[in-house]
Amino acid sequence: MNAGVVRAGGKVILFGEHGVVYGRPALAAGLATGARATAEPAAGPRLSVEPWGVSVEPVERELHSDAGKAPVPTAQLAQAFGAIVAAYERAPLLHVRVAMELPSGAGLGGSAALSVAIVRAFDAGLGIARMDSEVARIALEAERVFHGNPSGVDTAMAAAGGVAVYRKGQPLEPVRVGRPLQLVVGHSGEPGMTKETVASVARQHAQRPDKVDQIFAGMEAIVNNAKRAIEDGELDKLGQLMELNQKLLVTLVLSTPRLEDMCTAAVKAGALGAKLTGGGGGGCMIALASDAASAEQVKAALEALGRAAFVTEVAG
Ligand code: MEV
Repeated sequence: MNAGVVRAGGKVILFGEHGVVYGRPALAAGLATGARATAEPAAGPRLSVEPWGVSVEPVERELHSDAGKAPVPTAQLAQAFGAIVAAYERAPLLHVRVAMELPSGAGLGGSAALSVAIVRAFDAGLGIARMDSEVARIALEAERVFHGNPSGVDTAMAAAGGVAVYRKGQPLEPVRVGRPLQLVVGHSGEPGMTKETVASVARQHAQRPDKVDQIFAGMEAIVNNAKRAIEDGELDKLGQLMELNQKLLVTLVLSTPRLEDMCTAAVKAGALGAKLTGGGGGGCMIALASDAASAEQVKAALEALGRAAFVTEVAG
């Protein structure tokens, strides 16, 4: 039996990363690409991930000596898989094969897409139907292994897609997109450091709670204004809000010289605004273009810096 192919998408955080860990809202958009998975009967639960060339059983470590090839350590992957298996009353006797369509450590929600795809593949193989929010809740147990203290925005978006405001512990609030957004996503080539940057913000918060809470209050106001600007199709305003959000992220030392150069180059090439997306400390940035032709120019400017970039339309 093969229950067919299931999918889960990556995401870009448009506004509000990091604040979302502290109960503030974040505004995110699902990506069409993420992870695809199938499940087939097996003697016990097993997970194989391509193109990483890794195959693990839950929790067990280093079943293959290919850890060097995989961007996620094999032991971590096995523990994350174990966290999902533990959510089932009886360990599913299924071999889940996942094909990753996104790089991991890019800040694009690759690990959340992987986790959601595993849950969906198990469910498809076992004939279980559940709501996206429940799928996201189980996948979040795996995200805790990958990211330490995740807010849940990545798994919620991987399960549901679309454009939405997320607040910890609350259902996703879908956002109507008044005018499609042309986004350019650029990869710094530096590995994203979500676990480390979340920990660094936690240290800053412990030292100066008033200062950091004030920054997060600013981000919350930006998210609320951005939601309205998206609904009203006010692209110029949205670009300005991205610039403001980036300044706040810089205050928390989350950007890198390379990400800053990319944001500057994008705006110089005509982008309405640019910012890092996700955890920061490397990974990706996003830039908003006024139309498809401008998006291609922004993409070319990033490529001229030697960075990989792609254009995606956010239509909601
Ligand atoms: C999520 O992609 C980025 C952070 O907000 C962490 C989180 O929400 O779990 C930095």
